[in-house]
Amino acid sequence: MEKLNITPLNTPFNIVIDNIASDKSISHRCAMFSLFSDKPSTIKNYLRGEDTMDSLRIAEKLGATVEDDKKTGIITITPPKTLSEPDDILDCGNAGTGMRLYAGLLAGIEGSFILTGDKYLRSRPMKRVADPLRNIGASIDGRENGNKAPLHIRGAKLDSFKYHSPIDSAQIKSALILAGIQSDQKSYYKEDLLSRDHTERMLNGMGATIHTNEDGWIEIEPLKGKLKPLNITVPTDPSSAFFFAIAAAITPNSKVTLKNVTLNPTRIEAYKILEKMGTKVSYIKTEDVYEPIGDIVIEYNELNGVTVDSNIAWLIDELPALSIAMSIANGKSTVKNAKELRVKESDRISAVVNNLQKCGVSYTEFEDGYEIDGNSTLKQATINSHGDHRIAMSFAVAGLLCGMTIEDTQCIETSFPNFSDILSSLKG
Ligand code: S3P
Repeated sequence: MEKLNITPLNTPFNIVIDNIASDKSISHRCAMFSLFSDKPSTIKNYLRGEDTMDSLRIAEKLGATVEDDKKTGIITITPPKTLSEPDDILDCGNAGTGMRLYAGLLAGIEGSFILTGDKYLRSRPMKRVADPLRNIGASIDGRENGNKAPLHIRGAKLDSFKYHSPIDSAQIKSALILAGIQSDQKSYYKEDLLSRDHTERMLNGMGATIHTNEDGWIEIEPLKGKLKPLNITVPTDPSSAFFFAIAAAITPNSKVTLKNVTLNPTRIEAYKILEKMGTKVSYIKTEDVYEPIGDIVIEYNELNGVTVDSNIAWLIDELPALSIAMSIANGKSTVKNAKELRVKESDRISAVVNNLQKCGVSYTEFEDGYEIDGNSTLKQATINSHGDHRIAMSFAVAGLLCGMTIEDTQCIETSFPNFSDILSSLKG
């Protein structure tokens, strides 16, 4: 089992970081959406993490040709004329996004497909996509009546649909959009809070028609033919960059500039919470390719407690890192309405509070969140990542204050392979 030993930083830093991992959500979508074109897609800065490389290998197994030019850093995906039934299972590794989006994509393709993943992914709920896809004619089976992978999908011609999702989730929405564009009639999808919208932006950029109407329903038009290929430089992942935002927010007199981050409003809510807590944050937009992109500058300032009980879907990946800032902030902080945290790569509510307790932080746990007492002086501890990359990296950043040993750190490779190199570079 891999381990990470973090020693305390003890000195302020002022650093510009331009090599943070590329966006995981956008990279997954590049691998999948390129399959809807009849021309090669060119992708610069594709995330070379385990999760997204798994999505690329699945695209290959479905008949795409993938060329990876190490010199230019450009990945070219040439789609097949028609997707073929693979002669093996399709392994999504640790990626919920990989499994759920491919479930929607494959549900509409003729053939037999088996989607599986690692032990963590095989324990996560898939009914949330299997049920609505079955309702429109897909044949999906798996353990617990299709709730747990391995999932067996037998693709079929799908009906159109009108579906109001009980969960605000970009993975469910994207799975249904990928099914909807393959149907013959217009489909409608609704969520109570807009979840991250990379799917809509990218598919529209490729020539699909997906728009939200006045009543908040996303109208999904069937594809009229093949889409234009993607030509994209994947921006920096704001969720990965956020670990270094927290590093600056908890280290007195420090400042960090995070380069080329997607400034998509559905992705930067955690930075807004940090601002609410007292940290100085500025956003400098530099370009617009499918979505706004730019730099985020974070400067240390005294932290105060905060209540987080809305826009949870926009924060779901950053709440573990925010919990570190909440622990040292003045006064209590509360996270509520966040029961989705329990079904992420780990049960993040339990992983956060149990690991905080080891660091000497007092808390109250709720079914849908937690209250953190704040004003804590963090203690060095040995942390269990529960196989969850975001838990591992959050507590590694906490280690900048007090030292930390993180166990089971292989998971960091799923989203941010050079995380520890950048963390070490804060030492100058
Ligand atoms: C993702 C959506 C989010 C997020 C995940 C990536 C995506 O999950 O937690 O890391 O790429 O669509 P939800 O399905 O809960 O929105």
